[in-house]
Amino acid sequence: MTTFLLALLIGYASGSVPYGLLLTRAAGLGDIRKIGSGNIGATNVLRTGNKKVAGATLLLDALKGAVPVVLLTFAWGRESGFAAGLGSLLGHIFPLWLGFRGGKGVATGAGAILGAAWWLGLACAAVWLVMARVSRISSLSALVACSAAPLIALATGDHQLALYALALTVLIMARHRDNIRRLLAGEEPRIGSKS
Ligand code: G3P
Repeated sequence: MTTFLLALLIGYASGSVPYGLLLTRAAGLGDIRKIGSGNIGATNVLRTGNKKVAGATLLLDALKGAVPVVLLTFAWGRESGFAAGLGSLLGHIFPLWLGFRGGKGVATGAGAILGAAWWLGLACAAVWLVMARVSRISSLSALVACSAAPLIALATGDHQLALYALALTVLIMARHRDNIRRLLAGEEPRIGSKS
């Protein structure tokens, strides 16, 4: 139990670093929380028009999810890796440094899945890419990809992995309430649009 909590905390510390906010500030693009959707993730950073900063945000947000999972799985076993992944997502969504108001967790959640089961992470990324190509809507693609994660894991018979993926999915879905409302109203912006 102590190891589990420690892994959760280490994951939280990693996930709570708001790379989108730090990188946009460092690049002189202003406060990302006052641009577009106000989210600190790569989709919103792309709305600044700076593809390099958006790409770097995507990469670092994914790495802060994947690295603690890989390291703690190696050090303390699979359950600690899962705890670290859950912690990193909680850290990204509820960062202490931003008054617990963070991002929506898609890139960090993808990293947390990739770190635990690379094949599942790649499958979800493929679902995201297909959906993004068809719909050009980031949130819809993320919602479909993260819904697929527990189902794919379940189909392989790995119930522990399926439960882990389900916990990540529930958190990400809950954080997309506003996007779901906009999707239902047909008002969700397309990838790369400025609004
Ligand atoms: O990765 C976050 C994405 O699903 C939605 O972002 O800025 O369009 O609300 P945004």
